[in-house]
Amino acid sequence: MTVIFEAEPEHLSAVRDIAYQTWPSTYKDIVSQEQIEYMLERMYDLSELQHQMTHKGYVFLIAKVEESILGFISYELNYKNQPQTKIHKIYLLPQSQGRGIGKALIDQVVLAAQLAQNQQLILNVNRKNKAVQFYEKVGFIATATEDIDIGRGYLMQDFIMTKTV
Ligand SMILES: CC(C)(COP(=O)(O)OP(=O)(O)OC[C@H]1O[C@@H](n2cnc3c(N)ncnc32)[C@H](O)[C@@H]1OP(=O)(O)O)[C@@H](O)C(=O)NCCC(=O)NCCS
Repeated sequence: MTVIFEAEPEHLSAVRDIAYQTWPSTYKDIVSQEQIEYMLERMYDLSELQHQMTHKGYVFLIAKVEESILGFISYELNYKNQPQTKIHKIYLLPQSQGRGIGKALIDQVVLAAQLAQNQQLILNVNRKNKAVQFYEKVGFIATATEDIDIGRGYLMQDFIMTKTV
């Protein structure tokens, strides 16, 4: 049975490990290997993850079966001081995808957002990522596009997607 629980700082190295195991298959046909490495170093540095948890109010939920951590989602209530919840990251190990765990993680964030009286979930996703279809399936719609310059000449070509809760 899959258990979902809120992460403590000690779980953040597992979060980082999941990202490193999941990014190559997720992004190999979308961005270069160099860009994957650059973004992982920037976004999954342990001290950066700790800072997000302890100072920026990000909540990390972990999905676990027995002793194995399979994936995580991170979110932020009242994003930009608006009644909205930002989903920052959601990654499941390749062998754990397609089993309903992603939807279960989104459902938990919907509950947290409702409790906080937030009115929508919001996220960014690469326009070529198959996850776009997953998000549509669980009730998100693409409301805008956003191209973000992340340095070294790299560009993130995203959809902004939202879901009313
Ligand atoms: C995207 C991700 C979180 C989805 O989680 P998941 O556990 O694989 O998805 P689920 O099994 O919960 O799927 C829920 C529904 O979406 C559908 N779905 C999932 N992926 C889909 C896809 N690529 N295309 C169409 N439908 C899809 C499922 O069929 C399911 O539909 P159902 O309820 O009718 O059965 C997961 O696949 C993942 O970690 N992918 C790689 C990392 C990634 O891209 N993260 C997002 C970065 S923004």
